[in-house]
Amino acid sequence: MATPKKVLVTGGAGFVGTLLCQAIVAAPGLVFRALDLPGSRLDALARDGETVAGDLLLPGVLESGLAGCSAAVHLVVAHEHAPLELHEKLTIGGARRVVEAAKSVGVRRLLFMSSIKAARDYEGFYGACKRRAEAIVRESGLDWTIFRPGLLYGPGETRLSAIARTLRAWPVFPLPGDGSYPIYPLRTVDLVAALLRALESSEAIGRIYELGSDRPWRLDEIVRLVGEHIGQRRPILKLPLSPCRALGALAEKLTRHPVLFAEQIKAMQVRFPPPDTEPAKRDLGFTTVPFPQGLAELAAGWAARRPR
Ligand SMILES: NC(=O)c1ccc[n+]([C@@H]2O[C@H](COP(=O)([O-])OP(=O)(O)OC[C@H]3O[C@@H](n4cnc5c(N)ncnc54)[C@H](OP(=O)(O)O)[C@@H]3O)[C@@H](O)[C@H]2O)c1
Repeated sequence: MATPKKVLVTGGAGFVGTLLCQAIVAAPGLVFRALDLPGSRLDALARDGETVAGDLLLPGVLESGLAGCSAAVHLVVAHEHAPLELHEKLTIGGARRVVEAAKSVGVRRLLFMSSIKAARDYEGFYGACKRRAEAIVRESGLDWTIFRPGLLYGPGETRLSAIARTLRAWPVFPLPGDGSYPIYPLRTVDLVAALLRALESSEAIGRIYELGSDRPWRLDEIVRLVGEHIGQRRPILKLPLSPCRALGALAEKLTRHPVLFAEQIKAMQVRFPPPDTEPAKRDLGFTTVPFPQGLAELAAGWAARRPR
């Protein structure tokens, strides 16, 4: 029997990484090694694959993670609301370290997770640093593929569930901006299916794939749909962006996972172009369910977990 291909997943215990590792376990001929900071989420993965607990910026951590692997999927990123220094250190520095370590260990295949926000120049640190990290990967000489997904949702996500929590808690829904900000949501499971196909495809080498919904969903439409699913239809209170940016900056200081943060507001001041999903459809058979269907699945999970 052929030896299974081992795939290093950096950020393997995160939202996308956990689902990717589960999908690798289910895929014939593949096994995973998850690299992440130590903790219970990483420990839980040890039942189904190998794990490496450590900070990938520390010397030797990536090298030991990559040793014996055929490919790497690099997911680690600074949180979107992190300061510029951390984006530079982790998003850009992490990409540089992955490239150096892959070359030194002899791993040629690298999938790099970027974002739809790398597709356009804007004031935000997150998209700008993703774009600089993409450049490091593109110039690496490795067999790279870059993914630029829109908003990801599925079990374990935090954005749509934060909208649901706010709708349950407040008589009105405070919404930064006029509600027209376009979002291109994508089920994490559909992203993961595209990643698995890219691991097996030579067509995908040297390509950037944009992924997301086929049509834009306005932020106020998304709030309304979430409200319908949880039986909480609230009036939407549209707020000017500038004070929200200040409030977001304050929220970042008060909590590790703020619902509102200044980087989001910066992003809302630009209109990201729709993802061009044709290359991913052609090369990877990419497909995703319409957002209302995906949201209904997610909301069913929320309902199942709520105490009666
Ligand atoms: N979520 C989305 O909607 C979305 C949309 C577009 C693109 N993306 C991209 O998809 C990728 C995965 O996103 P995600 O939502 O799964 O992120 P995530 O849940 O934050 O996962 C990242 C993981 O990396 C870990 N990590 C952080 N610093 C590390 C370090 N120095 N060494 C080792 N591990 C470290 C994190 O640990 P801690 O949690 O303890 O920090 C976390 O477990 C990212 O590149 C992101 O930019 C995400």
